This record gives sequence, C-alpha cells and structure tokens, in this order.
Amino acid sequence: MKKRKGWALVAAVGLVASLAVVAAATAKSTKHAANAQVAVLLPDTQSSVRWETADRPFLSAAFKKAGLTYSIVNAQGSATTQQTQAEQAITNGAKVILLVNLDSGSGATIEKNAKAHGVKVIDYDRLTLKGQASYYVSFNNPQVGVLEGQGLVKCLKASGKYSQHPVIAELNGSPTDNNATLFAQGYNSVLNPLYANGTFKKGPNQSVPNWDNQKGLTIFEQMLQSTGNKIDGVDAANDGLGGAVISALQARHLPKIPVTGQDATAAGIQHILSGDQCMTVYKAVKKEADAASDLAISLAKGQKKTVDATVHDPTGNRDVPSVLLAPKAIYKDNVKDVITDGYVTAADLCTGAYAAVCTTLGIS
Ligand code: BGC
Repeated sequence: MKKRKGWALVAAVGLVASLAVVAAATAKSTKHAANAQVAVLLPDTQSSVRWETADRPFLSAAFKKAGLTYSIVNAQGSATTQQTQAEQAITNGAKVILLVNLDSGSGATIEKNAKAHGVKVIDYDRLTLKGQASYYVSFNNPQVGVLEGQGLVKCLKASGKYSQHPVIAELNGSPTDNNATLFAQGYNSVLNPLYANGTFKKGPNQSVPNWDNQKGLTIFEQMLQSTGNKIDGVDAANDGLGGAVISALQARHLPKIPVTGQDATAAGIQHILSGDQCMTVYKAVKKEADAASDLAISLAKGQKKTVDATVHDPTGNRDVPSVLLAPKAIYKDNVKDVITDGYVTAADLCTGAYAAVCTTLGIS
C-alpha cells in the first residue's frame, strides 16, 4: 500500500541518521524500565499510526511533566508479547499499567495477573471486557461512530448521490476490539434507519481482523468485485481502512466516492484535502494521555480519584469508572482545527501536490 511504502521509505532514509539517537533512546528507556512506576502497553503499529505518532509522545510528555518514571512498549500485534511485556513491567516494579489490549481475553488475563501482584491497571482507549481495571480512559466511542455516519450522509448530499439510493459499504474495525463494536453501533444508528426506509441500499459489510490495513484492502477489493464496482459510499472505521478503500478505488481507476475515517492522521487529512476522503474524526489524544497520566499518578500514590462517568461492561457485569472525552468531526473546511490543536503540523500536510489546497484553505 502507498502508506506502507511511505513508511518504509521514511524509515530507510532516516535509518543512518537516527542510529545514534536510537542508541541513546534505548539506553534511556532501559533506565526508565528498570524502575518504571508506570508501564504503558501499546498494541501495534499497523492498525493506526496514532499509537506511535501521538499516544507515545503525548504520554511521555505527561509523565515527564508529572515527574513519574515510565516505560512505553509496543506489542507489535502479538497478544503473547503483550503478556510478556506486562510481566516484565510487574517484575520491574510498576505500580500502574496503562493497557491498550489486543483483545479482551488476553487483556483480562493481564489484569488478573496485575491484581494478584497489587498492580493497578488503567484501560487506555479500549475497554477490557470482563476486566479488572481501576479506570477506563477513552472517548465517547459510540459518538465517534455517529459522527462517521453523519459525515457519510453529509458528503453523499454534497455529491448529489443522497437522493439516488446509493449503495453503502461498511468496513468495520477489528472484531476483537470493543471500540470497533461501539463505533459500528454509532454509525449504524445513523445508517440503519436510512437502509430501512429505502434511502440507502445496504451493501457489503465486513469487519477487518486486527484493523489490518492490508487485509482491509483485500476485503474492499472483494467488495468491489462482488458488487461489480457498484459502491457509492463507504463507512470505513478509521483512516487506515479509509486509505485502503481509496487505494482500491484508485487501482481500478474508479471515481472518488465519500469515504469516512477516524484518527485525523496526516495521511487521512491529506486524503480529505485531495477530495478522496470525506471526513475524519479527531480525537484529542493529548487530553486522553493527560487524563490517564493524572489517574496513574494518584493510583501510584495509592489514592483513588473520583471521575465523572462510568461505563457498563455487560459481559463482566460491572460499572467501570471512566473518563470519556468528546470527539470532533473534521471536514475540509475545519482541517485547521487539528493544526491549531497541535496534533498535526501544516508542514506534515502541505507537501507536494497538497501545498496548493493548503494555500486555498489558508493553512500553509
Ligand atoms: C482506536 C482507534 C484506532 C483503532 C486501530 C481503536 O481502538 O480507538 O483510534 O484507529 O483502535 O488501532
């Protein structure tokens, strides 16, 4: 995929220059890990760039500011690796673990083991069903889905397709991620009534294992194949999957259609600038990282802060104390908001062919 090649290229070009930096960083993170009070377990690098480009630096900054020792590791998509990383964190004396699980089953095992060792866990971004976390810090995830569904409706109206019974495809997130379930609940609350009253035709609908963008591409190619290319709009659950849809459309030289996304990644926003993607959902990860860090500080001190919300886990039948932040829909006309918030820079976005659109929108 285009994006992957991009990453590989950036990695290759930056490799030599960054060797010294990597060596220094490794030494530093080892030092942190040896006595880290807080351990962050990130899930992977292939479901969304956000974990490495946003969560890691924002969490790092929050812990540094709070004077906490910390380690941040990434399981690279392996639940077994994540389990080992959790055990290592406990051995290294962690008081608190921030967990982004790869699936609720392995997450619940990590939480059980942590509890047995007196270590507190915060479910970071993804709720662990049947888990034992002290807190859940995330966004209003059904609302993320609602914004995608509404975005698709808005863009179909703008393209003139809304009144022509468009065929809608849905490319959902991972079936093992509770968030993906909540996103789908959200967009289906918008789309189902429109399928039911005949405004939209329900097209293919499929989940993408582990949110894998490459698998998303294959699945969407099959969707095009099975419908004879007759898809008029796609609710893609995040920017990575939206990018997969766009790649498949371009490979077949098909016209642009409304495609949604989520995460306000640089690639997603560039697709909005070029008109290949209709919208994305911006989640202010800095706020999420700050909220999780605040709670981690109090847990590390043996205190328990009160939070405003709870989320019910029907499978574990318990209410988890929660911080739920508000997501925001981003279209071409408010891309600026993401830049103003410091999430992406104009320099990231306004490269090559995008520079001209940036100038028109006043964001370069
Ligand atoms: C997160 C999304 C992300 C997806 C894939 C979800 O749990 O909330 O922001 O795009 O996982 O990593």
